[in-house]
Amino acid sequence: MQIEVESHPNLVELSISAAKHFVRLAEEAISERGRFSVVLAGGSTPRKLYETLAEQYRDKLPWENIYFFWGDERLVPADDPDSNFKLAHDTLLNQMPIPSKNIYPMTLHPLAPDKAAAEYERQLRDFFGAHDSSFDLVLLGMGEDGHTASLFPEDSDVLMEREKWVAGVIAPDYRPPPERITLTFPIINQARNVFFLVAGESKREVLRKILNGEDSKSEYPAGRVSALNSLRWFVDYAAMGERD
Ligand code: 6PG
Repeated sequence: MQIEVESHPNLVELSISAAKHFVRLAEEAISERGRFSVVLAGGSTPRKLYETLAEQYRDKLPWENIYFFWGDERLVPADDPDSNFKLAHDTLLNQMPIPSKNIYPMTLHPLAPDKAAAEYERQLRDFFGAHDSSFDLVLLGMGEDGHTASLFPEDSDVLMEREKWVAGVIAPDYRPPPERITLTFPIINQARNVFFLVAGESKREVLRKILNGEDSKSEYPAGRVSALNSLRWFVDYAAMGERD
């Protein structure tokens, strides 16, 4: 696995670069396998990437060959401001020529977390079939506590999961909403490529520990992510503690 770290002056520059690498991987995957499967990240950081893809690449990719999944979702209605689906739908998906069959939302509200997780896993296994279980690209953010997707440091059960691809979780009080489903390490770390998008001074301490290999106890879920081919960190100067 190749690990790369790209540091950019700000979130806009970070997102422009991430968009270029997204397109590169999409073209490679479609050329080699006829399709590109990508897991979208939630939170706020990826918004600019989604907007950049919609603004600059609408006519530059065969979007009908791209399949969209989510790394985690809050179990709220699809039109709820907290919905990770809504973020991607409003900034990217509803502006591109993407067939609805290519979009696999996790918005399985009002199913309970465990039932929603089992249903989403069924959809994933149906998509991959018997011979594959690798997303071409997984996009992830990272919280100030080192969580990623909805894999939180306190949730040892889901961090130890070795079989299930999707799990129902209850997020800690400091990161509402509580009821969520999340991809687990078995499926995330099986991806061909992973991008982390991390911006802002609040992420600096944890990012430094992970990138410097100081996270020896793997207390930070983001530090336990790997990929089959490449793991690429897109970070801004504020998160890296660099000066413009
Ligand atoms: C979520 C996200 C989560 C997010 C980080 C960073 O549903 O909350 O999947 O893992 O990526 O919390 O969030 P920001 O990008 O808003 O800092």
